[in-house]
Amino acid sequence: MIKKAGIILLCGVMFAGLCSCGKKTADGAQKFQVGVAYYNQTDTFLRELIDCFRGDLEEYKTKNLEISAMVREAGGSEKTQNEQVEELIDAGCDVLCVNLVDRSDPSEIIDMAMENDVPLIFFNREPVREDMMQWEKMYYVGANARQSGQLQGELAVEVIRSQDVDRNGDGKIQYVILEGEADHQDAIIRTESVVNTLKEKGIELEKLSYQIANWNRAQAQNRMKQMIGQFHDSIELVLSNNDDMAAGAIDAYDELNYTEENRPVFFGVDGTAVGLQGVKDREIAGTIYNDKEGQAEAMAQLSVALCTGEGMDAISFEDERYVFLPYLKVTYDNVDEFLDRQ
Ligand code: GAL
Ligand code: CA
Repeated sequence: MIKKAGIILLCGVMFAGLCSCGKKTADGAQKFQVGVAYYNQTDTFLRELIDCFRGDLEEYKTKNLEISAMVREAGGSEKTQNEQVEELIDAGCDVLCVNLVDRSDPSEIIDMAMENDVPLIFFNREPVREDMMQWEKMYYVGANARQSGQLQGELAVEVIRSQDVDRNGDGKIQYVILEGEADHQDAIIRTESVVNTLKEKGIELEKLSYQIANWNRAQAQNRMKQMIGQFHDSIELVLSNNDDMAAGAIDAYDELNYTEENRPVFFGVDGTAVGLQGVKDREIAGTIYNDKEGQAEAMAQLSVALCTGEGMDAISFEDERYVFLPYLKVTYDNVDEFLDRQ
């Protein structure tokens, strides 16, 4: 019985091995396909990240190596994403890059990838550690959420100390927070660490309110209008978990015709095209660069290494399977450097 099971397992491994080594084209080049599944095409940062990724894969093409991406977006449904991953595996993808809809529920995708021996690179929405440890062919590419909150806090401290943010002069900063999705690691940790950083640096804070706006500009505009309706011009600081929501908050003030003197200062995270332009126009006081170029390049490099079996040594992992790219502070003084990267 045990012997039989062993043989079946061995055959399975050999078969899987054959499946994951790509195909040869007529002129002998190796041909690979990377399946990319992401949670929602309405997300600005992810659209920009995936554009970078496509461009990076192009650059890996040589006369001996053909590599291309098949991209699917799940419209916010985990069920749809599971079906898309199945479809990508059936289409013969050699590697999968998955931005989970529900980061706490990756089990179906992990099972499918394991059964078919297709390595999995999760990105941007980090699965919990226990899930990551289920198989040695799983990786994560992203950034350290805590760092983004700390840096946003440091930027806010600089601005509070150098500009007239405390408009009512009561020695406290009245603030509101716009949060991303409720159970997203970046939303939870950014919110917690930005506030802690401000407090540690000795800023007296008064939290007026917070609203969840799911990373989304239009939702943030709506939520911000509600908060303005409640607190009028007493809001002095808006801490937003991302740039799109900071832009939505500014839209709300525009819509209500608030003059500059009665507006709070706004901070974002990401450095998307919209976020950087906001900093350039001095509408957003600062943002924290979420290095999409670095993340996309790490995903491309890892995808190519997993397909070809070459180049793994050149990648620096943390804990053997995590790649984290650092965040960077962006203000009016250095925004041009970042605009040049676009
Ligand atoms: C965050 C990013 C947000 C949003 C989110 C999606 O890292 O700052 O703008 O894209 O990921 O998971
Ligand atoms: Ca005040």
